[in-house]
Formats: sequence, C-alpha cells, structure tokens
Amino acid sequence: MQMKRWRNAWRFLPLLSVIALTLTGCGNEQLTTLLPKGEGSEMQFNLMMLSLYIMIGVFVVVALIYTIVLVRFRRRGESDNEIPEQTEGNVVLEILWTVVPIILLLILAVPTVMATFALDEGTENVPEGATVVKVTAHQYWWEFEYPDLGVKTAQDLYIPSGERVYFELASKDVLHSFWVPTLGGKMDTNTATVNKMWLNAQEPGTYYGKCAELCGPAHALMDFKVIAQEKEDFEAWAESMKEASSQASTDQAAQGEEIFANSCIGCHAVGADGGNTGPNLTNFGDREKVAGILDHTDKNIKAWIAKPGEFKPGNNMPAFEDQLNDEELNALVAYLNGLKVEE
Ligand code: CUA
Repeated sequence: MQMKRWRNAWRFLPLLSVIALTLTGCGNEQLTTLLPKGEGSEMQFNLMMLSLYIMIGVFVVVALIYTIVLVRFRRRGESDNEIPEQTEGNVVLEILWTVVPIILLLILAVPTVMATFALDEGTENVPEGATVVKVTAHQYWWEFEYPDLGVKTAQDLYIPSGERVYFELASKDVLHSFWVPTLGGKMDTNTATVNKMWLNAQEPGTYYGKCAELCGPAHALMDFKVIAQEKEDFEAWAESMKEASSQASTDQAAQGEEIFANSCIGCHAVGADGGNTGPNLTNFGDREKVAGILDHTDKNIKAWIAKPGEFKPGNNMPAFEDQLNDEELNALVAYLNGLKVEE
C-alpha cells in the first residue's frame, strides 16, 4: 500500500517542476540583480553568469557520464549477477579530476578577485570633483548628507548619473545594509566603523533600494529610492535644496507650519532648521512615497502621522492621533506637500 502511494507521487514530479520553473519568474524587476543598470551591478552580473556557465558545463558533463554508465553497465537479468572485474586506482583519472576543477576555480577566481578590487577603487582616495554622500541608517529610514554641497535629505537619494558616486556608510542604532540591487551593492552599515563603496547609475532614472540586514520588526519596510539625474539637473537640485525655505503659500499651509513648529520640528528638520532624530523633510512634497512605503496621498500622510506604528512596527515616531484633530492634520498635510524644491 505504502509503496503504491509513493509510486503514484512520481506523476506529480513534472507538475512540480513546471510550478518551480514558473515561480522563479516571480519578483519585482526594480529589485533584481538580474537586470543590472549600473557599472557595479553589471560587473557583479557578469561574475554570476560566468559561474553559472561553469556550473552548467560541469552539470552537463557529469549528467552525460552518469547516463552512459547507467545505460551501458546496468544489470541485465539473472545472468548478469556475478561481481565485475575490480580495479583500484587510475592515474589518468585521478589527475583529470584534480586538474580540471583547479582550472575551473582559476577561471572563476581571477575575474572575481579583479572585480573585488575594482569595486573598491577610489573609495579611500575619492577622485577630485566626485560626489560624496554620507549615508546614515536609522530604524527604519535612511539619511543622506552631501558634505561638500551642504545638503541633507532622507529617503530619496539624489545622485548624478553616468559617474561614480562615493558613499560613506554608517548606522545610528543597529546593523543595517544599504542595497540598491539594480545599481550594485550591498554594503553593511555599522555603528562603530564607516564602510565605503561607490555606485554608478548609467542612465537617469529612479532605482529602488532596500535594507538588507534584519534590523527589527519593520526591517522589510526600510525602503528608499535612488533618483539619478543628469549632472546639471542634480546640481540644480542641490542648489534649490540649499535655498529651500519653509514659506507656506496658503492660509491652511500657514496653520500647518505653525503646528509643525510646535509638534514636529524637534525631530524633523526643514532646510537648516530642526532636529535630526527623524527624516529631514526639506523636499517632502517631491517624494514618491510616504515613509518610504506608502503611496504619496493626503490620506496616507494623515494616517501615517496619526499612527506610524501601524505601518512600520517599532519605529520611533510617536502617534499623533490624540494630539491633532482632523482639521489640524489637513493643515499639516497642506504644509508638508508644499515642501518642494523641484518644479
Ligand atoms: Cu534596516 Cu533592515
């Protein structure tokens, strides 16, 4: 009975293989290393393909030998029962299966070591004129500071495209990992040391980033964006960030500004004013997402301010549902959405 059941299970094998093959196509194309859009990710992709080709080659040869042995030397009825001739040791074979793997490892090792050094190139002595960004990871958001430009922002990382941008990565609290799969990476952020790397987005565009180190209950929600722009657009952005002011344009926004000054500015800076425990909001109105994960709608901004813990469990922002009424929340939203530096 048992045997029979297992024999029937065999029939599901093709079905399982098809399902497995189909599921390998699932995923987010903005969060894949298989569609490289950066200099670093392309180097890493090429290494992956190289090791894949070697593995396929080894698999084909082994499967071929296996099949030949299986067919040629299988037992054919009772007459085949005697023990075959026993051999011990074969110098040619031994040399072959020692030398071939060594050669394969060398083919893999040389480009890997070269790429490892290339990916670290210039991080200690950043070339003249290159953009440097200090990245600080927090539970559960990202702070980006441009020391040479005097600009600070959060969640949306602006970089010039077509050139290497150098990063100095650290953490404010626990271990996180900075990762933009389509551009290259990833690199841990530590509290005691600064890690360095570069990224080069070949084309202007928006790229998705994620935290890649388990850092608490909202780890999977610690998303950010990389916005790569032509050099002159990036420079214009940095200029407007420096000049950005928090001037409210409507009465409602002015009311929101007042609420902001009373309730929010202790943690959130706008321009040069304000605290640094929460994300800098100078260009909040330009951001594609609220808190890195929610669609940028008035409803979501209000919901987030009222109960941030509902969306990112364990994050440090207090809930304002008991402190601000609906009218006040609307005013705050009007003010925040007016914080823009891009047209
Ligand atoms: Cu930060 Cu995971």
